[in-house]
Amino acid sequence: MNTITVIGSINLDTTLRVGQMPKPGETMHAKEHFTAGGGKGANQAVAAKRSGADTYFIGAVGNDAAGTVMSDLLEQEEIDTTGVSRLDNQSTGQAFITVDDAGENSIMIFSGANNSFTPEDVKESTEIIGKSDFLISQFESAINSTTEAFNIARSKQVKTILNPAPALSEMPKELLSVTDMIIPNETETEILTGIKVTDEKSLKEAADYLHGLGIEAVIITIGSKGAFYDVNGKSGVIPAFKVKAVDTTAAGDTFIGALSTILKPDFSNIAEAITYGNQASSLTVQRYGAQPSIPYKNELV
Ligand code: RIB
Ligand code: NA
Repeated sequence: MNTITVIGSINLDTTLRVGQMPKPGETMHAKEHFTAGGGKGANQAVAAKRSGADTYFIGAVGNDAAGTVMSDLLEQEEIDTTGVSRLDNQSTGQAFITVDDAGENSIMIFSGANNSFTPEDVKESTEIIGKSDFLISQFESAINSTTEAFNIARSKQVKTILNPAPALSEMPKELLSVTDMIIPNETETEILTGIKVTDEKSLKEAADYLHGLGIEAVIITIGSKGAFYDVNGKSGVIPAFKVKAVDTTAAGDTFIGALSTILKPDFSNIAEAITYGNQASSLTVQRYGAQPSIPYKNELV
């Protein structure tokens, strides 16, 4: 099993379950309300740890009650939180999630502390990054700090995985130039490449565009259809498991965390790793909440 470091966001998630999404101007009653640990970064770390990796997390919370609860949750998972800063005068990141009866969600995030930790803070985690098999990040925390971490990883021959979510309108060129593997969904792929992915041909074109930026390995997630990969001259679609989704929150995060646990740094077993990730995320979508829904290794074959 790999050693994984995730740099990224930690959020306190507040979820409301509704029959269908409200329209602008509409007030409606929710069926249920709950809070849970979330944030794409923290979710990916939890997924990696629960599927068997030694896991380190780098990020930030505020000096508030949510910050204590959220970092305690990671410690209970036995994720190493040495790299988590506690920032004064900052609020811990928050996400407000609405989930409808079809299992679809819409999410509003307030970044707070996630956007305020600096490249200087990241330098303190140089040793942690250096002993990892993979360093993973997303677009939900300060990009200049992620870029610093990826540069450190590069200098130590540690492979980097970027999940460009949620989509940014401007491409962080320096970060992409030190990315070894990228894992966008269909929307993020279109924003990054300008190519609308509709079939295997357009998926391949988008992957080639991303290879052109110097990125060795590409996985494009295609929702309930599964995932397309393109690396070292090999490509294909690995279908998703067919299940009934109640809440897709953290499905993508689970996929990434789980697959990175068994992925070989030369990407030679990418298809097998995707199948493992697909299996893990097929469990996540059948349960409510972000971190509470992420499966453990003994649930995966
Ligand atoms: O990817 C799911 C996550 O997105 C949620 O946990 C929420 O915090 C938002 O960051
Ligand atoms: Na879920």
